[in-house]
Amino acid sequence: MHLTLQQLKLFESVYRNGSFTLAAKELHLTQPAVSIQVKRLEEQVGLPLFELMSKKIFPTSAGKEVYKACQDILGRVAELKGTVEAMKGEVRGPLTLSVVTTAKYFMPTLLGHFLQEYPDVEPKLQFTNRARLVERLANNEDDFVVMGQIPDDMNLETHPFLENILGVVAAPDHPLAKKKQISLRELVNERLIEREQGSGTRLVLDRLLEKNGLKVEPYMELGSSEAIKQAVMAGLGIALLSLHSLRLEQAAGKLVVLDVVGFPLVRRWYAVHLKGKRLSLVASTFLDYILNESGQVLSTERDAT
Ligand code: PGA
Repeated sequence: MHLTLQQLKLFESVYRNGSFTLAAKELHLTQPAVSIQVKRLEEQVGLPLFELMSKKIFPTSAGKEVYKACQDILGRVAELKGTVEAMKGEVRGPLTLSVVTTAKYFMPTLLGHFLQEYPDVEPKLQFTNRARLVERLANNEDDFVVMGQIPDDMNLETHPFLENILGVVAAPDHPLAKKKQISLRELVNERLIEREQGSGTRLVLDRLLEKNGLKVEPYMELGSSEAIKQAVMAGLGIALLSLHSLRLEQAAGKLVVLDVVGFPLVRRWYAVHLKGKRLSLVASTFLDYILNESGQVLSTERDAT
């Protein structure tokens, strides 16, 4: 078989995106250029890799096998790039990270400080919810990921770093705002605004309520902490949020953290990758950086604002 890395790269993108058009966009190519290369790959394999049904493409069994091989091959090439850079002893080259949406309140700051020290690092930082992050983790798509709630059914290496403090928040004129020792039962009678299914924050609340024999129908479901803050400030309800996301609104007196029994929940953020993964020099240097420096970097930033 005469396959090229470029063909595998294109195929991988089409497979992951489920679309030739999206793959072309991602790789800054034209759609026909992508189609031709995937066609050549199909000729080499000797079997169709995708089939078209109701205007959607689906991988064939051969396509699924090629995808598995692609991940191995492209993963090894990325590792090789890192190893070669490491042999040169230089912290440079790609750094691919995915982090849960809630971590957007501190990961860019940490990365920014790191890049000042290592300007030749080429970062790619993706924000996505926990469910999608678990998929990326299983497929070994990143150097490592950052999340709050670690899946317990995967073979992982986990590195705890910052505290993640979660509190129930409301608008300052909410009837519960001045109340002390609010019970969980009182909480579920309120209009709760929750994150979407698949969010780590949502998982924490659902598990906690379940443990206490309670259940809640969210009054509203919103797909980001930003949207939730706006809804809470508008008096639409109360919500569980990571306090990382509240700094500005709390300081401006637009949101308050309620005194709920058992809250705030103090949890950790974790850098996570599959067990046995060999990190590139860039990735291991950044990992060491966040494990050792994140508290200091973020408190300096906080003091400066
Ligand atoms: P989320 O994840 O941004 O998907 O809610 C947060 C977490 O893992 O704690």
